[in-house]
Amino acid sequence: MFSSKILAFENYVPENIVSNDRLSDIVDTSDEWIYSRTGISNRRITTNQNTSDLAINVAKGLIEQTGIAPDDIDIIIVATITPDYLTPSTACIVQGALNTKALAFDINVACSGFVYALSIADKFLKSGMYKNAIVIGADVLSKIIDWEDRTTCVLFGDGAGGVLLSKNDENHILAEDIKADGSSWEAIKGGHLGVKNPFVLEEKQDKFFLEMNGRDVFNFATKTVPKSIEALLEKANLTLDDVKYIVPHQANLRIVEVVAKKLKQPLEKFYLNMQNYGNTSAGSIPIALAEMYKQGLLSSGDKIIITGFGAGLTWGSMLIKI
Ligand code: ACO
Repeated sequence: MFSSKILAFENYVPENIVSNDRLSDIVDTSDEWIYSRTGISNRRITTNQNTSDLAINVAKGLIEQTGIAPDDIDIIIVATITPDYLTPSTACIVQGALNTKALAFDINVACSGFVYALSIADKFLKSGMYKNAIVIGADVLSKIIDWEDRTTCVLFGDGAGGVLLSKNDENHILAEDIKADGSSWEAIKGGHLGVKNPFVLEEKQDKFFLEMNGRDVFNFATKTVPKSIEALLEKANLTLDDVKYIVPHQANLRIVEVVAKKLKQPLEKFYLNMQNYGNTSAGSIPIALAEMYKQGLLSSGDKIIITGFGAGLTWGSMLIKI
């Protein structure tokens, strides 16, 4: 039986900081409304870099940290809903920049993307056929945001994070609970491409911008995340007392407050950074993980939970031993 372990954490966000006050110059909103409803004060919005640029910076940082030669990277997975192109995949652009021979592909699972991607990489490594995987969550949501819609444009930011996962003697990915509910796919949607060709019967308008029923997503997240964490712990035969940190998708502070209350845990157990970055979609969890790692919050042997939720609807939690 083969196992896997995270060897390195990295993040990369664009330099341009956009405050709530700056957004109130663009749409009818205020720092007070945004912060009290979401816990967000600032977000990073790219001025020139695309999703692959963010992801390449993360990948290079991971290689630098570990000293693993690019030739020894076997797998690159990028979770993103905002690729540079529909094809090629962002992962192939990263692979080209690193000059590796790794197999490379993207997955599209919105804000749960990093959890899904880590699970996939873990299975590749546990097959025993591969040694090293780079797993990245990267999104430039600002490309698909309607900057005239105050109900969505204040929530999101751009950014990327990732980990280098390697085959290991001891298992460090302890359990997972990963699910989807496609019956609610209309709750969050964006990037719609209508059918267009010379034979089309009725041309439908593209609906490119992200649309979200915020209230429905709020209710879904506060209902699903606690259940997912409980299911995860049951599979691992552990309790929350065994867990040092919960690293949630950084969508909204109020969602995390409800989750903490339902799980009867102090808010301090949840790592939070949405104040600085907003909701960075697939980037959110790995950005937080790399920040924690760089701050020395993650020590060898610590057990942590990562938990994501988002469009699809999708959700997923994993129990990880550092
Ligand atoms: N500034 C000022 N007023 C605003 C703004 C704004 N930016 N946005 C909405 N409002 C107004 C609304 O128009 C409404 O006014 P009305 O009562 O006159 O109609 C009022 O504020 C209340 O709006 P609600 O939508 O009811 O506000 P709510 O308290 O539900 O907060 C929010 C909205 C923050 C979006 C919340 O529902 C939420 O966080 N939902 C979850 C979103 C999420 O987590 N998404 C993650 C997944 S995203 C992905 O996967 C890509």
